[in-house]
Parts: sequence; structure tokens; C-alpha cells
Amino acid sequence: MATIKAAILGFGTVGQGIYHILNEKREDLRKKLGVELEVAKILVRDTSKERVPGTRHLLTDNIEDCLSVKGLQVVFEAIVGEEPAYTYLKKAIMNKCHVITANKVMFAKYGLELQELAKQHGVFVGYEATVAGGVPVIKTMKNLLLVNDISKIQGILNGTCNYILTKMRAEGWSFDEALKEAQALGYAEADPYMDISGQDAFKKLMVLSALAFGEQPNWDEVKVVGIEDITPEQVRKAKEKGLRYRHVAEVEKLPDGTIFAQVGPMLVSKEHPLYPIDDVFNAVTMETNYIGTLTLVGPGAGMYPTASVMVEDYAEIIGKRAGFVVTI
Ligand code: NDP
Ligand code: HSE
Repeated sequence: MATIKAAILGFGTVGQGIYHILNEKREDLRKKLGVELEVAKILVRDTSKERVPGTRHLLTDNIEDCLSVKGLQVVFEAIVGEEPAYTYLKKAIMNKCHVITANKVMFAKYGLELQELAKQHGVFVGYEATVAGGVPVIKTMKNLLLVNDISKIQGILNGTCNYILTKMRAEGWSFDEALKEAQALGYAEADPYMDISGQDAFKKLMVLSALAFGEQPNWDEVKVVGIEDITPEQVRKAKEKGLRYRHVAEVEKLPDGTIFAQVGPMLVSKEHPLYPIDDVFNAVTMETNYIGTLTLVGPGAGMYPTASVMVEDYAEIIGKRAGFVVTI
């Protein structure tokens, strides 16, 4: 049986999740895909940190150690920020590797370019994990777009913000307590300001805009507001009135063809579809011409939901290569 060699870039919450799932599902994936997968190298910044037992020999802080693995075919990327992730994935694609990323900060800016480059080199880019954690928004949208037009997308795209707003309302926690717990649970970004400032939701929205409309609005013209100024008093008063704060991102193609987007907190009543979406859950509503309105809901962050969709991307890519899966 053939062996596929893979590298994992980043071995924090998401990278470790990928490693665990690949191990746990090894036999099953082998049977389903007809190939063995071997994680050959793992990129980190600090190779001396204690991590998953039995992986020390795989760690390196040098990207060339990863990309020069003989027969490397797949690169999972779960590091942080635009660079060096963009440069690493570009190199990987030019070396004819399939790449699978969770990094929306990088992908919002370079996603269209990397997908074009991948086409030229006959490889695939999996990016389900860049938006809404374990919720299969990207593959659903790709399928919808085969037949439908999407005119508007609205949703809760940041699990950390939703978790904080939920805990402040339902448990009376302070903002800081709730953020600390979201960090402990692996939901928050390495720099949690990305979450609470709305920037993380904005980057995910831009990934969705590129997919749904083939373009993004001018980033400078998008109003992005976070949740950091919402006080416990405001949350309490809203609760008394039967309202809930939600952090909502939306992008829409207007009749004149321009793309309008905005990100910010919204007060919703119990009639609103986002009202019951609590904790780390995300929800994404798509307005389409044939199906009408469709909403997907599920865990929007965390080790296993995120890593799981990255391994699904791997399975889809390898399956497609073998000719028995048609999506992607
Ligand atoms: P962590 O901070 O837990 O892990 C990041 C990992 O990347 C660490 O192992 C770190 O190395 C490594 N790393 C960071 N920068 C570099 C670099 N320049 N060169 C080499 N290695 C580097 O982050 P997460 O796992 O939470 O997130 C990873 C990515 O996945 C991010 O882009 C995030 O936005 C995205 N994501 C996260 C989700 C989540 O729920 N956590 C969900 C969906 C997407 P070291 O450990 O040595 O510092
Ligand atoms: N920090 C992000 C969130 C991780 O809380 O939604 C998932 O992308």
C-alpha cells in the first residue's frame, strides 16, 4: 500500500488535534482511502517545549526540514498570522504538495492567489477550518454554488465572542473571567484581541465573500466593531428585556453589484434565528435563489472540531485524486 507523507506546521491546539485524529483514525482512513498516512515532520517555534509524548523526534523549527521530506505530498498548516504561513504554503504548493489550512488571517488575504497557484500546479487547497471551526460551511457553499447564487451571508463567526457573551449573560461571569476560560478551552486566538476586536470574524467573512462572490469588499470600507466595550450592565439590561447580544458578521451583494460587509454586536430578540446560538457555537445563514435561506450551526472553535474538518479535507483531497469523491 502506498504511503503519503505529511508535515504539520504548528503544534498548538489545532496541530495537536490533527495529530491525535490522524492517529486515532489511522486504520479507518487507510481502509477508506487505500493509502497509509505518515506524519513525517512537525514545525514549531520552540522545539524544547513538552508536547505530545512520542513526537519529539518529529519536531523542527526549520521549514526546510519539513518541505524537503522526500515524497512529501500534504502540508497541514496551523500556525499564526499572514507570515510566514503564506510563504510556506506558496513554497509547498510549488513543490506540488496539497495544502490544508486553518489560518484565516493568512487565507483572507492570500486565499484566491493560493488557490490559483494550486490549480497551476495540479494540487488542492483545503480551507474548511478557516471559517466556523467544525461547521461545514465551505463545502456546503461550494456545493450550493454549483447551482445556486448566494446573495447574502450572515452569521456568528467567532466562538470566543459568543462564549463570552453567553457566559456574561447566563452565568453572570465578568468579561475577563469568560475570556480566560475561552483561552483555557483552546477557543481564543494566540492574541485574543483578534477575537474580541472583531478582526477574526472579519477575516472569516472575507474568506466567505471570496468564495460566494469571487471578490471581497475594500477592507478599509468595512466597519468592524468588537465586543470589548459591552459592559456587564448592558448585558444585564438586555437580559431583563428578553434580548441577547450576538456578534454578527454579514456580507451582501447589492443590486448594483457592489459588496457590502459589516461586523459588530447586535441585540436580538427570541424571534431572531441567532437568539438560541449559545456558547462556542457558530451559525451561518446563506440566502440563495433556489433553496431560499439555509442555516448551518455547530461548534465554531476548539481542538477537535477544527482538526476534524482538516482531516476531512485531507480525505476529500486524497479521495478526489483517486477518483471517488467529487467535492472540492
Ligand atoms: P496555538 O497558538 O495553539 O498554536 C500555534 C502553533 O504554531 C504553535 O505550535 C507555535 O509554535 C506554532 N507557530 C506559530 N508561529 C509560528 C512560526 N512563525 N513558525 C513556526 N511555528 C509557529 O494556535 P491554534 O492551534 O489555536 O491556532 C492555529 C491556527 O489555527 C491559527 O491560524 C488559528 O487562527 C487557526 N484556528 C484556530 C482554531 C481554534 O479553535 N484554536 C479554530 C480554527 C482556526 P510554538 O508552540 O513553538 O510556539
Ligand atoms: N478564535 C477563533 C474563534 C477560533 O473563537 O472563533 C476559530 O476560528
